[in-house]
Amino acid sequence: MSKQAVKSQAANRKPSADKLERKVKALLAKMTLAEKIGQMTLFTAMWAETGPTIDRNFMQYVREGRCGSIFNAYTADYTRSLQKVAVEETRLGIPLLFGFDVIHGHRTIFPIPLGEACSWDLALMEKSARIAATEAAAEGIHWTFAPMVDIARDPRWGRVAEGAGEDVWLGCRIAEARVRGFQGEDLTADDTVLACAKHFAAYGGAEAGRDYNIVDVSERTLAETYLPPFKACVDANVRTFMPAFNEIAGVPCTASRALLTETLRHKWGFTGVVATDYTAINELVPHGVAADLTQAGQLAIEAGVDMDMQGGVYFTQLEALVNAGKVSPAAIDEAVRRILRVKAELGLFEDPYRYCCEKREKRLILSPGHKAAAQKTAEKSLVLLQNEDNALPFAKNLRSLAVIGPLAKSQLELLGNWYGAGDGKEVVSVDAALRAKLGEKVQITTVEGCDIDGEDASQLKAAVAAARKADAVLLVLGERGNMSGEASCRVDIDLPGLQNRLAEEVAAAARGKPFAAVLFNGRPLAIGRLTKAVPSILEAWFPGTMGGQAVAEAIFGDTNPSGKLVMSFPRHTGQIPIYYAAKNTGRPISNEKYTSKYLDCPNTPLFVFGHGLSYTTFSYGPLRLSATEMPKRGKITAAIKVTNTGNCAGEEVVQLYLRDLVACVTRPLKELKGFKKINIKPGASAEVKFTITAADLAFVGPDLEPLVEAGEFEVMIGGSSSAPVGGRFTLLPAG
Ligand code: NOJ
Repeated sequence: MSKQAVKSQAANRKPSADKLERKVKALLAKMTLAEKIGQMTLFTAMWAETGPTIDRNFMQYVREGRCGSIFNAYTADYTRSLQKVAVEETRLGIPLLFGFDVIHGHRTIFPIPLGEACSWDLALMEKSARIAATEAAAEGIHWTFAPMVDIARDPRWGRVAEGAGEDVWLGCRIAEARVRGFQGEDLTADDTVLACAKHFAAYGGAEAGRDYNIVDVSERTLAETYLPPFKACVDANVRTFMPAFNEIAGVPCTASRALLTETLRHKWGFTGVVATDYTAINELVPHGVAADLTQAGQLAIEAGVDMDMQGGVYFTQLEALVNAGKVSPAAIDEAVRRILRVKAELGLFEDPYRYCCEKREKRLILSPGHKAAAQKTAEKSLVLLQNEDNALPFAKNLRSLAVIGPLAKSQLELLGNWYGAGDGKEVVSVDAALRAKLGEKVQITTVEGCDIDGEDASQLKAAVAAARKADAVLLVLGERGNMSGEASCRVDIDLPGLQNRLAEEVAAAARGKPFAAVLFNGRPLAIGRLTKAVPSILEAWFPGTMGGQAVAEAIFGDTNPSGKLVMSFPRHTGQIPIYYAAKNTGRPISNEKYTSKYLDCPNTPLFVFGHGLSYTTFSYGPLRLSATEMPKRGKITAAIKVTNTGNCAGEEVVQLYLRDLVACVTRPLKELKGFKKINIKPGASAEVKFTITAADLAFVGPDLEPLVEAGEFEVMIGGSSSAPVGGRFTLLPAG
């Protein structure tokens, strides 16, 4: 069928807005209060455990018409069997909505979102979300609890793995791409799922980097840093939102009318469903803003929460609250209307089983095309952190190779955390991928050397012996997959266990040989020790199903790393929070004593935001501005020539940063405002141009509304956030 025909078929299927509203209204008119509350209830099935399970009777509730949505259930067969109960055995036959944490792939697992973000390739990220949606949808899932768009500047917090890093502007672009990828152009298509912008808001600001901890940020920081990616999701038409577990300045987000109604609905115009995080309404009691579950339920509905995930608070408390006149029937109707509307938007009233499809499941799950896309994404997510003496790539004419480290043979670990319905058995370890790639010609010796985080030193000697005998040595180090993600925070973000010692002892034996380390991890690590022991370090994150092959290709130069960090790597945990868009302070660092610095560590990170090397090198010509003055409604062009000065083709992420020198409120030292990813052949040059308009110069003014102020701006363009100032221009006052 032609693309056009597919489109027009979709248009025919799409219920018109009027028809949809009529359907929802008619249904609502027939519903009892108990049935309405059922629609506001989301319970977990038992196929995955993503939090404390407090009630296992979900089937009974579905049958009674008291549970309208289920999460953690998948496969066409299983979801169909549940759907059948809802459709055939309940009075009104309202179809269930199936949700699941499809975070970085469903069965074909892509790199963790933080890793994928390092590709700076928005089309690639959109495609990975599209593929995840396609696989999940074939298994009956209608709704993913993704993307997580929390800006994260504290790598102790395990959930940095699920987001797009520290930067606001890039975070917005990635949020939009991921929403587009999951939801596609047409929700009635059978390969698109509802996306969910989470965790609203400022979850990334957890004090001390400890999950679920309080957040205390100013209204300004909220508006400047944490809210924009959520707003970007609304603008991209995301259909669901999840409030964060945390409080902000004394108000738990699940009970925040200011956030969930005033900002989200009234100011931003969001029309979709707000569904809580796992038991978050119940948690209003330990937060200390509700005396009991009854009050907790009342606070949540008053704040604007439509659906209760797993806590059963609406399920047990709402009827009494309505009967006591504490919650209005109109508030219930409004929430139910929104929920029925998204079910209708998915086309579930036309065909409740359309998502459960064994045929599609067989054809699409782990298909060669999906695996190829996962490998490409893993390759593009690799960040070459350090490459002294061009130790990488290794030459292919080696006779022997030692592969050393606790992650060398790992399969499951390469999936990281939140790997959906992924299976470690589908993963080819680095060791196996290297053996497959190099064949018999290269003799490979593999020694784990130590555990990921144990203290057992008994294998160190064998590792050193293997390194001594081999022509080249590859270390495979990092974290366990579950050392990041939810409830997985660390106070010390160096390599765990004996891995630094392993690297140092092996280094002595590897001296003078090609020697490199690959890292698998879910957060920036403070790897100062490792950078001294090993000349080359390739950051692979948790790269997913095809990660082993992606690493093997890059180690031998069949692909060229092009990823750039989206989160700063600190030298030391004590520098956290550390991010490039810092403020100058009144006493910026200098040699003077009374300035903003540490006695025992530089202010700078180990690896800056935007950093990432290539097997080739790039040089930047002078920055050229089209003018030195810009009218308020005008624009200015910043251009630069980038030359590939090395021996192989490579991709470079050319980054544009701006600094507002004087404003009515303090502004960061630099802010990313654009980037272009270009591929350049050796010896060739490319001209890269950015257009700057007033929108790029706007900031959050004293009244917390966007403001564009006349004045002077600095422009920096380069291959990382360390790009030098290359020009200045003045924004002229209006008139
Ligand atoms: C808790 C997590 O915070 C959230 O991100 C996730 O979607 C839910 N559990 C459901 O698993």
